[in-house]
Amino acid sequence: MAIVSSHNPNSQPQPEKEPPASLLRSQETTEDRANPQQEETLRPDRLENYIGQKDLKQVLEIAIQAAQSRNESLDHLLLYGPPGLGKTTMALILAGEMNVNCKITTAPALERPRDIVGLLVNLKPGDVLFIDEIHRLTRTSEEILYPAMEDYRVDITIGKGSSARTRSIQLQPFTLVGATTRMGALSSPLRDRFGLIQRLRFYEPEELTEIITRSGTVLNIDLTPEGAIEIARRSRGTPRIANRLLKRVRDYAQVKASGNITENVAKEALELFEVDPMGLDWTDRKLLTIAIENFNGGPVGVESLAAAMGEDAQTLEEVCEPYLLQIGYLNRTPRGRVVTAAAWEHLGYDRPNEQLSLL
Ligand SMILES: Nc1ncnc2c1ncn2[C@@H]1O[C@H](COP(=O)(O)OP(=O)(O)OP(=O)(O)O)[C@@H](O)[C@H]1O
Ligand SMILES: [Mg+2]
Repeated sequence: MAIVSSHNPNSQPQPEKEPPASLLRSQETTEDRANPQQEETLRPDRLENYIGQKDLKQVLEIAIQAAQSRNESLDHLLLYGPPGLGKTTMALILAGEMNVNCKITTAPALERPRDIVGLLVNLKPGDVLFIDEIHRLTRTSEEILYPAMEDYRVDITIGKGSSARTRSIQLQPFTLVGATTRMGALSSPLRDRFGLIQRLRFYEPEELTEIITRSGTVLNIDLTPEGAIEIARRSRGTPRIANRLLKRVRDYAQVKASGNITENVAKEALELFEVDPMGLDWTDRKLLTIAIENFNGGPVGVESLAAAMGEDAQTLEEVCEPYLLQIGYLNRTPRGRVVTAAAWEHLGYDRPNEQLSLL
């Protein structure tokens, strides 16, 4: 059955239904989904409260205004980027700004053609249909989407063999918002049918500080500006991680430090939770350490790295690597991954060229 949750901007926010377990989700994702209500309260609900992603916001503001002045539905939008950067949040905000409902589903829940047809025919004019992990749609579901996206029409075949007939159902104009962590896995006919394709980028520490400060106010947490900066610095450029760390540090502060999150309290707490000053967690450090110790810093293929770590290669590629590439700790070369000198140093190893000079 299709997993759908409907979101009406004028009613109480409804918790997003748990998508099926996916290898692609990092640990923190699962943890926060365990408490969807809290995640909902932390989600900004208007474009003006959505912090960072300036370019994306500008593009969407223009698209929204143009669509509203023409009295049309918004163009189909594809959002891609690593987990936790605000794709789902943006889809909900768009629906809110356009004053329409948002139906949320995830591609693995649309296995049978009737799941997606059922969803499409029930859309009201202008509605936003949000499909998470859209790269995982089945071939058949994808083909149903093509005419729906282009002409607001679904073609269904009734009967079998020589008596089979095709019937077209006209749909209401709607906006498809697709989200994916793996742009490369999307088929090009599907990709080409999106009017807007936007990448979400990692957040700057200042933007994360703002997000943490806002979440602190929403959750009524006693937080100094320096405490917020310290958490932001260690949040891997990701709002979901920032919110998660804030909650963990709050627990620590309550038990160990009379509830007030200062710079020192944040530092102590995050050290205890094994989040280092660059925001690297246990898996990131393990990836780099194994690449250094077992493969002399690379070049090493992602499959070999994954096998040595006992991890799934896709998880490494989508969850760990983007941030390590972003901060310049890892390079992608045609021959494989290479650990940079900065990472050797950060983990306390002698730089590779210094080692060579000793030989
Ligand atoms: N720009 C932002 N400003 C403030 N908070 C944000 C922003 N982006 C994301 N968040 C916070 O981060 C949390 C995670 O965001 P969201 O669920 O939208 O990520 P996602 O990109 O859909 O992740 P996934 O790929 O795992 O589905 C949200 O609950 C929200 O509180
Ligand atoms: Mg999401």
